[in-house]
Amino acid sequence: MSTHPTNPRGLGDIIITARGFDEYCAMFGLTDADLIGRVILDCPGGAGSFATRARARGATVTSVDPEYATPVDAFVSRARRDTLYGNQYTRTHSEYYVWTWFEDADIHQAKRLAALEEFIADYSGPDARYVPARLPDLPFPDREFDLVLSAHLMFTYPDHFDEAASLAALRELARVSSREVRVFPLSDTTATPSAYLDDLRAALAADGIMSELRRVPYEFQRGAHTMLVLDTTDFQNRAAMPTEPS
Ligand SMILES: C[S@@+](CC[C@H](N)C(=O)[O-])C[C@H]1O[C@@H](n2cnc3c(N)ncnc32)[C@H](O)[C@@H]1O
Repeated sequence: MSTHPTNPRGLGDIIITARGFDEYCAMFGLTDADLIGRVILDCPGGAGSFATRARARGATVTSVDPEYATPVDAFVSRARRDTLYGNQYTRTHSEYYVWTWFEDADIHQAKRLAALEEFIADYSGPDARYVPARLPDLPFPDREFDLVLSAHLMFTYPDHFDEAASLAALRELARVSSREVRVFPLSDTTATPSAYLDDLRAALAADGIMSELRRVPYEFQRGAHTMLVLDTTDFQNRAAMPTEPS
């Protein structure tokens, strides 16, 4: 579904990032109640430490990313290169960022590289925990997960995910969630809010998927302090109901 523009805005092509567990929890407003005993999908998983740390707290986490299909050494060296590139972007576009979560770009780089090291210690290629797949097609049955997380993909890269591709991706994430999908951030890498968020929410509501915008205790990209939450409970209950004989 994604396109490959010759001159994308902001950061450019989609990079593999390595966010830390604490950053993920803040971005998604996650508490222990969201993690302990829960079955969670993280799509895209990238190369961060959320999955390994959440597992240690009692969650079952599946991370999905198309790049898990590449050989481990190539994936890790690209993740390291992309992490440094992403850090360089924050230095040259400092105005797009609020320097409180990370005090400065050196601390940003150190934390991202530390998260990458945790990922590397946990990752040995595709398995049941790290699944190579690409939105909008996930290899899971309906309602497989209690909670679905999606960070820094569709709204971050609107040149790769246009409105139709974003809707298809959101529908697929909702299909595999029995309760909730959380998406963050809602702006791109130039700190510009999504132009079609309201239209997407209206299209999802027409499917029976209600949504809300919920403030989170995190802001790194300027103005990006709110996540999109899809409540899939009614939608899934209706889908699971037997159809009336006509
Ligand atoms: C910026 S990273 C975000 C990773 C992680 N969620 C985070 O916040 O650090 C974007 C990831 O999306 C993956 N990606 C690209 N196209 C995708 C698609 N169609 N479906 C799922 N993941 C995709 C890339 O391989 C990359 O690892």
